[in-house]
Formats: sequence, C-alpha cells, structure tokens
Amino acid sequence: MIAYLNGSFAPLAQLQVPVLDRGFLFGDGVYEMIPVYARQPFRLAEHLRRLQHSLDAVRIANPHSEAEWTAIVGELVAQQDFADQSIYLQVTRGAAYPRNHAFPADSTPTVFLFADPLTTPSATLLAQGVAAVTQADVRWLRCNIKAISLLANVLAKQHAVDEDVAETILIRDGLMIEGSASNIFVVRDGVILAPPPSHLMLTGITYDLIIELAQQHDMPLQACEISADELRAADEVWLTSSSKEVLAIVTLDGRPVGNGVPGPIYKAMYAHYAAFKT
Ligand code: PDD
Repeated sequence: MIAYLNGSFAPLAQLQVPVLDRGFLFGDGVYEMIPVYARQPFRLAEHLRRLQHSLDAVRIANPHSEAEWTAIVGELVAQQDFADQSIYLQVTRGAAYPRNHAFPADSTPTVFLFADPLTTPSATLLAQGVAAVTQADVRWLRCNIKAISLLANVLAKQHAVDEDVAETILIRDGLMIEGSASNIFVVRDGVILAPPPSHLMLTGITYDLIIELAQQHDMPLQACEISADELRAADEVWLTSSSKEVLAIVTLDGRPVGNGVPGPIYKAMYAHYAAFKT
C-alpha cells in the first residue's frame, strides 16, 4: 500500500514520524476520512473545506492549497491497486523539542495520508440494520473540530464492541448528540429529524448530503434538538458516516426501534444515496 508523508510517496510500512511529533505527544492535529468510489474521491471539496475549518480552529496554518491537496489525493488514489478506497488524511502541528504544551515557535506540520480498501456495509447489513447502545457523552465542548485526539470516541466505540453492537450513541444533558464515529438521524411521523450542527457534534459530510438529498427528493426534514426520550420513541433511527454511508439502527439498548426492521423512509433515503454516489 502506497502512502504519503511530507511530500513523498512510499510503501506505508516504510514510513515513520519522529517520536516528538505533537500528534503523538499531545494528539495535536486534525484529520479527514474521504471515501473514494471507483477511483473518484467523493465530496472532496467538502472534506477539504472541513479540513480548513478544523485547521483554523486549532491554529495550524494549512500546509497546502486546495489544488495541491487535490493533486496529492489524486496521486495517492492512482497509486493503489484497488478502486474503492478510504483515504485517511492527517495534519499535525509537527515535531518540536523541548516538550511543551504551548505551540512551538517554529514547527512544520506533518502531513500524512494513506489509503485502505473502502469497506461499506454489506447487503445483509443494509437489509437487516444494526444494533446500538447509548452512553453519556463525556467529550469536550469543541466536537465540531475533527481532531485526532479521540480518546473519548475510542472508549465509546469500544463500549459498542464490548456490547456486541455497531455503535454507541452519545447523550449529553438529555439530548442525543451523535454516534462515537457517526451522525444520527431520527424519523418521527414521517419527518426526518436532524440534530442541528453545533460545537457539540461533528457535522458530517454525509450528514450534509442526507439533508441535501431530503430537499432534492421532497422528503420532510427538520433540524431540531432530539431528546434521549424522542430517540427511544422514534419510528426509525439511522447512522451516517463516510464509511458506513446510511445504516438503519433497528435495536437500541436491547429494545426494538419502531418495528425493529429498517423503515420505509430509510430505504428511500438509502436508494437516493446509492444513486447519488454512482
Ligand atoms: N468519522 N461524528 C463523528 C464523531 C465522526 O467520527 C464521524 C466520522 C462523523 C461522520 O462524518 P462524515 O460523514 O464526514 O464521515 C460524525 C470518520 C469516518 C472517522 O473517524 O474515520
């Protein structure tokens, strides 16, 4: 697998970063995960815009122009011997000595990208849906930054694995926020409900696309806060992300969601999503 580090392409296994990199020491960096279908990066401009937002938020100067990023991603995609890819892109504040929490006076950002085969949900998973559990959201108050410091998300996702389910849905102050690595939509009485973007959640590129698709296809959608009780009483619950696309959650904390099978609005939305990505 060919990867990219600071200007060069090389086999992933050969790449190394200094132990003093602030990504390693402090989790001081941001990232993107960009899906690639048939060698076409999906919604690249949107991912690069969110990358810019994350970099601005943590005050790392963007090391590349949009044209340069597009060229790097394009070259990385071309170098792989598989067509559907998951591109991981990370920028850290770079290496600095001595170790000090505050920004170093001069450090060069570390830019790292690699491609994995994209594994989207199987036909069985799409047809059957998945289970999820809920847990308190113990993350910080700037979850709209796609930061590499993901310890709380890691623990929340591991909770899902320990419970033998697909995702942990995070609840803060009685409100449903998002999944450990996904956004969550709810359907109630035929209306798709989306939690409004805020500093408490990462606004997914897929989340934005779902809203666009709902508008395009005249599907009623409302952005509004969703309580944990409303989540439990929902007719349908979906999770969305660049790798999971749109997936129905049919069991929540061991109880069925709606009828316990992927609902009609989910199926319609998935069909629109599948048609859009091709
Ligand atoms: N994560 N919220 C969180 C906390 C996420 O980690 C993700 C995606 C999303 C959905 O964002 P998008 O639709 O842009 O993928 C929401 C990616 C897939 C990851 O961490 O690998």
